[in-house]
Amino acid sequence: MENNSIFKRKSIRKYLDKDISDDDIKTILSAGMQAPSAFNTQPWTFIVVSDKELISKLSNMSKYSKCAAYANRLILTMVDLEKVPLTRAWFTQDMSACTENILIEATELGIGSVWLGLYPDSKRIEFVSNLFDLPKNIVPFSLVALGYPTMEYESESRYDESKVHYNGF
Ligand SMILES: Cc1cc2nc3c(=O)[nH]c(=O)nc-3n(C[C@H](O)[C@H](O)[C@H](O)COP(=O)(O)O)c2cc1C
Repeated sequence: MENNSIFKRKSIRKYLDKDISDDDIKTILSAGMQAPSAFNTQPWTFIVVSDKELISKLSNMSKYSKCAAYANRLILTMVDLEKVPLTRAWFTQDMSACTENILIEATELGIGSVWLGLYPDSKRIEFVSNLFDLPKNIVPFSLVALGYPTMEYESESRYDESKVHYNGF
């Protein structure tokens, strides 16, 4: 298997009590902002959460986000609907590319991460929008929990030749 951060990345849900530097957070955000976006609208905006009380509140976003309670930082990605074309057809792809870049750059820096599903679950969107009192045009998209992993981990290749078709299905 290739030995780079795309292949190494794995969801990490347990973290050391060790601070992530502001420089590393900036590098991770910068990777997110480097993502491709339809019409190059770059419709993303972010909240970096380090406040322990807010981290704890956000971990209650859903029963699947409890692991966030032990994260050192959370990055909330949000889409600015004023920046996307009227059809709004593409922004989920823009934001997914942005979120994946965040995960990969975190891996590159030795920082564990997990994508906590938010959009398009209306209850989770409402929960996060209310918590931060977000304006109507700003819609939360994904929550990424970040922290140094508690143990070494290995990823397995998922390459499956049966899923690949050449010149036709
Ligand atoms: C859109 C999306 C939503 C996800 N939501 C959650 C979540 O709410 N809680 C969680 O623990 N993991 C969540 N995950 C992580 C997946 O469970 C994980 O990526 C998958 O099991 C594959 O494992 P890996 O990331 O280690 O390769 C989510 C991943 C994606 C792409």
